[in-house]
Amino acid sequence: MRKQFIAGNWKMNLTLEEAGNLSRKLRDGLKVSDTVDIGVFPSFVYLDKVSDIFSESNVFVGAQNMSIEKCGAFTGEVSGPMLKDVGCTHVLIGHSERRTIYQETNSVINSKLKAALLTDLSPILCVGERQEERDADKTDEVVESQLSEGLLNITSEQVNRLTIAYEPVWAIGTGKTATPEQANEVHTFIRNTMRDKYDDNTAQRLRIQYGGSVNAENAEQLLSQSEIDGALVGGASLDSSTFLDIVSIAASI
Ligand code: PGA
Repeated sequence: MRKQFIAGNWKMNLTLEEAGNLSRKLRDGLKVSDTVDIGVFPSFVYLDKVSDIFSESNVFVGAQNMSIEKCGAFTGEVSGPMLKDVGCTHVLIGHSERRTIYQETNSVINSKLKAALLTDLSPILCVGERQEERDADKTDEVVESQLSEGLLNITSEQVNRLTIAYEPVWAIGTGKTATPEQANEVHTFIRNTMRDKYDDNTAQRLRIQYGGSVNAENAEQLLSQSEIDGALVGGASLDSSTFLDIVSIAASI
């Protein structure tokens, strides 16, 4: 039995005050639940404050990106040890906005995953195809290379700390979601690929979240699919009651 994992990716949104308010509303509104893992991913500059607010709760706090390097002359970058220092346990790696807007390649993503794992951070590796790749029937091929190149030289023991988020690029921030069947099909493909690359036990333990326009209306259908183990929620995670609704739906599955 894999525990559902609901994560909120706040992206480059909110003011300091709003991030604090949202965090307090989530903390106070969450019923203690052992059946769902919950995480929030604020902007770097709010991490310290947000982890303070969640310090007595079991909500994970994570960053949206990190540097490959530990420290040094890397202007504008934030390292794994710095993230640990402000209370992060998790980090998103390879989000499609990083891949497309900031040209992160599978090889950069592989180095970031290794840096995260070396720092004892638990990464969420994001994968997913663009619309034109789906139209050209290349979804499996794209996801397969994101996995094989992204996870190069990463051991099965390290994969036990990893979550994968399947986020079809065409569904992110567009209001278009993959149908539960479409999503489950790719999740199954991911699990089978991980079984081939590692072993059955590693593949069965791996949590695979779906992301892309998840909201309180579509969450139940998506989360009840056999291979979907949670959600990476963008826009809908900025509203405390919607995010709490999604968490309750996950808890009821
Ligand atoms: P969305 O974003 O829920 O706003 O589509 C998801 C994501 O980018 O992680």
